[in-house]
Amino acid sequence: MRRSEPLRALVRETALDPGDLIYPLFICPGKGIRNPVSSMPGVFNLSVDEAVREAEEAARLGLGGLLLFGLPATKDEQGTGAWDDNGIVQQALRALKQTAAAKKLVLVADVCLCEYTSHGHCGVVVKSGDNFDVDNDLTLELLARTAVSHAKAGADVVAPSDMMDGRVAAIRRALDTEGYAQTPILSYASKFASAFYGPFREAADSAPQFGDRKTYQMDGANLREALREIDLDIEEGADMILMKPAMPYLDVVRAARERVDVPIGAYQVSGEYSMLQAAFEKGWLDRDRAMMESLLGLRRAGADFIVTYFAKDAAKLLA
Ligand code: PBG
Repeated sequence: MRRSEPLRALVRETALDPGDLIYPLFICPGKGIRNPVSSMPGVFNLSVDEAVREAEEAARLGLGGLLLFGLPATKDEQGTGAWDDNGIVQQALRALKQTAAAKKLVLVADVCLCEYTSHGHCGVVVKSGDNFDVDNDLTLELLARTAVSHAKAGADVVAPSDMMDGRVAAIRRALDTEGYAQTPILSYASKFASAFYGPFREAADSAPQFGDRKTYQMDGANLREALREIDLDIEEGADMILMKPAMPYLDVVRAARERVDVPIGAYQVSGEYSMLQAAFEKGWLDRDRAMMESLLGLRRAGADFIVTYFAKDAAKLLA
């Protein structure tokens, strides 16, 4: 059954399609800017006009969509840039929406505060003496405002990645009240506190200035808890769920696939991308084959779609 490519193709169980791939973009202020992210070869901070060019290429390649992150001009304690109707992601959404490319792409806006807060945490920080806490319930209202602002600016989907409890319900309620009942929520339902987000924090300038994210992101040891998080998010109104990181958590993707019927995405995060790129640069791995295998594995584990920094490269190969 493996002796020829046509035979292998006939019995192949899993396929990768450019339309399954979502390409993340990091939007920064300015014009004509393409600042390389040093730990992520091929990834840039892009001004809005450059993001529009990326969108056009993404549409030409048949990608499924874009996931937008923002690098605001200034940050503050609360992260007000996140829900500013004139914020960086909102500007990008409005510009993208005016392009023909946007009709072929799903524009997903990442909903979180860490790129916008001066302390780099994903929610409201409450200090008491030397200790601090990220206040779950105070954060919900700010996330809801952010999601509404994204929907207003043209986001097709909002994707909360903060990991506060109850945020899907809070966002759903706010969207419905403000006239965006049609905007779906893609929740990062099981997001583990991971070392593999390291390069992203350079790309998005979002490293926490003190402490870590272990009090709100999940413990990498827990599968049952991940399933509980998924159930809660779906109960609260999540239309799709995202699992992340991807490769070290393939069992979680598989378990989620067997448990729920909503569409599931896997996020091949920055560190997964960077370690492959590093091996490619050293000539230790075959670039095209390792890239495609890393993506196919996620589809086989049960992901319907994949968020990946390889989206354009993979689509070029698939073409
Ligand atoms: C924001 C957010 C992060 C990622 C996606 N959304 C970083 C984090 O939680 O520290 C990571 C994505 C990647 O590593 O590619 N909370």
